Amino acid sequence: MTTPDTLLHVEDLVVTYPTPGGATTAVDRVTFTIPRGSALALVGESGSGKSTIAHAVVRLLKPTAGRILFDGTDLATLPERRLRPLRPRFQMIFQDPYGSLDPHLTAQDIVAEPLRLSGTRDRTARTRRAAELLDRVGLPASARDRRPSEFSGGQRQRIGIARALASSPDLLVCDEATSALDVSVQARVLELLRELQAETGITYLVIAHNLGLVREISTDVVVLRSGRVVEQGRTADVLASPTEPYTRDLRRAALDPAAIRGRKPRELLHARGRAHTPA
Ligand SMILES: Nc1ncnc2c1ncn2[C@@H]1O[C@H](COP(=O)(O)OP(=O)(O)OP(=O)(O)O)[C@@H](O)[C@H]1O
Ligand SMILES: [Mg+2]
Repeated sequence: MTTPDTLLHVEDLVVTYPTPGGATTAVDRVTFTIPRGSALALVGESGSGKSTIAHAVVRLLKPTAGRILFDGTDLATLPERRLRPLRPRFQMIFQDPYGSLDPHLTAQDIVAEPLRLSGTRDRTARTRRAAELLDRVGLPASARDRRPSEFSGGQRQRIGIARALASSPDLLVCDEATSALDVSVQARVLELLRELQAETGITYLVIAHNLGLVREISTDVVVLRSGRVVEQGRTADVLASPTEPYTRDLRRAALDPAAIRGRKPRELLHARGRAHTPA
């Protein structure tokens, strides 16, 4: 159901990938809604379809079926020519802060690039705005002329966020944006995302393995298994009484001291399974 409060409504989304053995269905009739200014978390084990959904939402791939209503416009079927003017309004931060920044550009140019693409012709204005954005995400002025290889993972993530924010998007899709980072760095990036939401009312679709992070940032959560939604609702409710074994395991893993050191629940579950197997 969509209301004027709805920014994103995904309905019966299906994505199939062609493979040598025939088409595989990565996302199978997934439906969820994100109200403006809120944050929805997608969780689920590896291969459950989270990134595929994210890529479909920002139309890096064309869905096989279903609707992606972004502020009332169905992105699912829109040709690229009509998507282009909308693209600045939905942006994505990628899973890997190491691979997603152009190694040849300075931080300043990386952030200014989307401004150029979205039609800010004045170079001085682009430079000024890029500097403001880098400052906003907590990078020092001395960082502006450095290239990605000269930054830590957390700093690169901040550059990615600054770049995504350059076009003042309504929706930011974060694909495990912080999972490659250690927990204290994750916490600071999370804090930044929350501050930005409070300031701008930006809406988030966040993919996460770390349940602590899900709890901190999301109002609603969708749990996926094998491309299907197996559980969804308000984050507090789902985490308080999860009905799915996966969600329960995820919750248990989030309380594990190793999880606090930043390991993924999947590894923890395997580790626990081994520990409990009689010799
Ligand atoms: N380009 C592709 N071609 C064929 N199959 C793909 C492709 N990308 C993903 N898949 C398959 O689609 C399913 C969903 O993958 P997806 O990357 O969306 O999962 P995920 O939930 O993001 O996993 P992870 O937590 O490991 O990032 C998996 O079975 C995967 O093997
Ligand atoms: Mg993924």
